[in-house]
Amino acid sequence: MFLSPSHIPRIILFLVCMMVGFTLWEQIFLLNKSFNAINRNWNQLLEISPMNPTPCYPVMNIMFLKTHKTASSTVLNILYRFIENHNLTVALPVSKMHIFHYPRPFKAEYVEGFPSIRQKHNVICNHLRFDLTEVQKIMLNTTQYFSILRNPVSLLESSYVYFRYLPSFNKTRTLNQFLISPLSYYSPHETYNMLIRNTMWYDFGYDNNAEDKEDYVYSVLKEIEQRFQLILIAEYFDESMVLLKNTLCWELEDVVYFKLNFRSKDTIQNLTQESKERAKQWCSLDWKLYKHFNRTFWSRIQDTIGLEKMQQEVEILQARQKEFMQVCLLDGKATDKSKIKDSVLQPAQAGEANILGYNLKPGLDTKTMRVCRSMIMPEHKYINLIRDHQKQKIL
Ligand SMILES: *[C@@H]1O[C@H](CO)[C@@H](O)[C@H](O)[C@H]1NC(C)=O
Ligand SMILES: *[C@@H]1O[C@H](CO)[C@@H](O)[C@H](O)[C@H]1NC(C)=O
Ligand SMILES: *[C@@H]1O[C@H](CO)[C@@H](O)[C@H](O)[C@H]1NC(C)=O
Ligand SMILES: *[C@@H]1O[C@H](CO)[C@@H](O)[C@H](O)[C@H]1NC(C)=O
Ligand SMILES: *[C@@H]1O[C@H](CO)[C@@H](O)[C@H](O)[C@H]1NC(C)=O
Repeated sequence: MFLSPSHIPRIILFLVCMMVGFTLWEQIFLLNKSFNAINRNWNQLLEISPMNPTPCYPVMNIMFLKTHKTASSTVLNILYRFIENHNLTVALPVSKMHIFHYPRPFKAEYVEGFPSIRQKHNVICNHLRFDLTEVQKIMLNTTQYFSILRNPVSLLESSYVYFRYLPSFNKTRTLNQFLISPLSYYSPHETYNMLIRNTMWYDFGYDNNAEDKEDYVYSVLKEIEQRFQLILIAEYFDESMVLLKNTLCWELEDVVYFKLNFRSKDTIQNLTQESKERAKQWCSLDWKLYKHFNRTFWSRIQDTIGLEKMQQEVEILQARQKEFMQVCLLDGKATDKSKIKDSVLQPAQAGEANILGYNLKPGLDTKTMRVCRSMIMPEHKYINLIRDHQKQKIL
């Protein structure tokens, strides 16, 4: 190539322009790349908790007050799976029991390893009668508290069938009969009277036979509101799971569930309209508790994600549940206890209720099988697994 001396300045200018241009382009390109990376991370965070505009971290320190006959066994399974998946430490009842000496009020000494272990537990979730001071002896003060309530009318119906052997219920043939004059069958001094009247009120640590006075009820509701970050409602179970997931910053998979510890329809007592009204009177403390937290439940939804978004999330949850049922379950549904082949998967039975369970689909691969099995594991079997696992961890 022939270059005359007069060309040289122009060539240098051209090369300088090229270099500047390239550097600029590179800068913009890199900037753009890192911008995309930030964007991606942001999207991932949004995926974890789409409701929460600020990044959040999954809550791992939890007190679940497991109330009686409120779909709490299904919640317990969700917690057990989360505990296993995240290697969390659970406060377990002493003497290999499944509950903390209910109906006695809870004491820290009912927890295995107390007092040497104290506040090292991530989760406490088995049946107990709530006592804040005692719970605080074993749980960190950053613990999030939550529980679940059910309409006391259907709760009473369920208790009647499950606890048919209790003296108050035993003297009657149907719940309708019991409700015509409950006081003629009931004694506030019988051992399990809390399973017959205002069960939830009792589980939260209050007197289930207290007089229903406005000031008293109000003070109890306020106290529960202050301590519990979230109260779920069994009648709106899927909405409850979405709310739980968002509050604890968990993922959808964490709250996908199969219904556990429930009856076949033929053992359900049919209540007359009068009986339903009488049940509300009979359990008026629970009725007020339920009505109050049903209201706060729906306000919470409106104040956080809104009804429309909630509906969308519930549909996603239900679709995921359907997928799991098809993958995991033989016939894709629950079955009578007599047809359950694996003895570990046999649900515990109670009273006159016929508790249904599940069969796993044969031929699942190891990983799928593990997930499916944990989802249908009855609680009294699951707690033993967790106990064994935890023992190995401590050794
Ligand atoms: C579980 O936690 C224990 C200690 O608490 C640790 O030794 C163990 O490696 C953990 N296992 C898994 C699978 O993370
Ligand atoms: C929680 O516990 C920590 C450590 O024990 C303590 O420093 C902190 O003040 C406590 N916070 C509250 C609100 O009690
Ligand atoms: C009531 O209890 C007695 C003794 O436990 C039992 O024999 C009887 O079958 C029970 N009756 C009903 C209706 O459950
Ligand atoms: C309640 O009614 C349903 C149908 O309406 C019936 O299948 C069921 O057996 C009844 N339950 C009892 C306890 O009578
Ligand atoms: C619970 O709240 C929902 C939504 O506001 C309402 O439709 C329902 O009637 C409430 N239930 C009771 C028992 O108050």
